[in-house]
Amino acid sequence: MLKLVVAPPRLAMRSSSFRKAAFSTAAAAAAATRFQGGVSMVQGASRGIGLEFVRQLLKRSEEGRVVATCRNPDGAADLLKLKKEYENRLNILPLDVTNETTIEAAASAVSETYGSLNLLVNTSGILSIPNVLQPETTLSKVQKSSLLLTYEVNAVGPILVIKHMWPLLKMGGGSGTEREFAVVANLSARVGSIGDNGLGGWHSYRASKAALNQLTKTVSVEFSRKKDPIVCILLHPGTVDTDLSRPFQRNVPEGKLFTKGFAVQKLLNIIDNVKSSDNGKFFAWDGQEIPW
Ligand SMILES: NC(=O)c1ccc[n+]([C@@H]2O[C@H](COP(=O)([O-])OP(=O)(O)OC[C@H]3O[C@@H](n4cnc5c(N)ncnc54)[C@H](OP(=O)(O)O)[C@@H]3O)[C@@H](O)[C@H]2O)c1
Repeated sequence: MLKLVVAPPRLAMRSSSFRKAAFSTAAAAAAATRFQGGVSMVQGASRGIGLEFVRQLLKRSEEGRVVATCRNPDGAADLLKLKKEYENRLNILPLDVTNETTIEAAASAVSETYGSLNLLVNTSGILSIPNVLQPETTLSKVQKSSLLLTYEVNAVGPILVIKHMWPLLKMGGGSGTEREFAVVANLSARVGSIGDNGLGGWHSYRASKAALNQLTKTVSVEFSRKKDPIVCILLHPGTVDTDLSRPFQRNVPEGKLFTKGFAVQKLLNIIDNVKSSDNGKFFAWDGQEIPW
């Protein structure tokens, strides 16, 4: 369990360039309040694995706050249902990872309301979009537009989210929780592993997740060097029954298609038990490390 306790806020900030988003007077007041149970953000929460993260995070604690972001909150019917059930603990904010202004606005809103973040889970991702994007079966089907779109959503987006949430994570790490750091968990995929690539294909998706892995690893090294109280990990959820995997489930061996509930339970277990020495590592749902 992510166990969180009330503790005095850390007010020291090392990076001047991000002060704007993190430290208005209201934010300092929010930070001073400290939220029992901590503050978690799930980015990409309208459906699939992200929505399930929100559901489980709300269920497991009586007090923890959850910020759920998605492109179109008004159209996120399941999130809105959860909002009715958890009126005071769930905050839904608009965020499209391809639009940095929306990321900055979400960071400001979190800063004003909570002043810190203890957990950031980046779940948004694309594999196929009807009439726009199809996973490639051969080099001859590789298109510049597909490569760039998957890179933008799957790799660039999550890193920009971390960039703008950085001051909030620094405030959340090491105070308000029983552990000494905040956690960033980026949803990657085993097919992003270069060492594990025995089948080829899916050029855009594979490359975008490999880029996400490299960017996350790079960020984790910087956090460590700066002694920021933040641990970054990459997670492969297994093959999970969601809209993303649905067109490709035919060849999944029996017993290997996980429910969202099962996958997220496993991933939360990894997050709960993460150690500072895990910073920059890439884990599968069962806790096994995946090669780069
Ligand atoms: N399902 C699997 O088997 C599997 C396996 C390995 C890895 N993963 C990874 O796990 C993560 C979650 O996948 P999933 O299966 O839950 O997929 P999903 O059901 O298709 O959900 C994808 C989510 O990403 C959001 N999204 C797409 N583009 C976005 C953008 N520009 N800005 C913000 N949000 C955006 C979607 O929001 P909208 O509703 O607005 O479209 C949706 O909430 C992905 O990163 C995926 O690569 C999944």
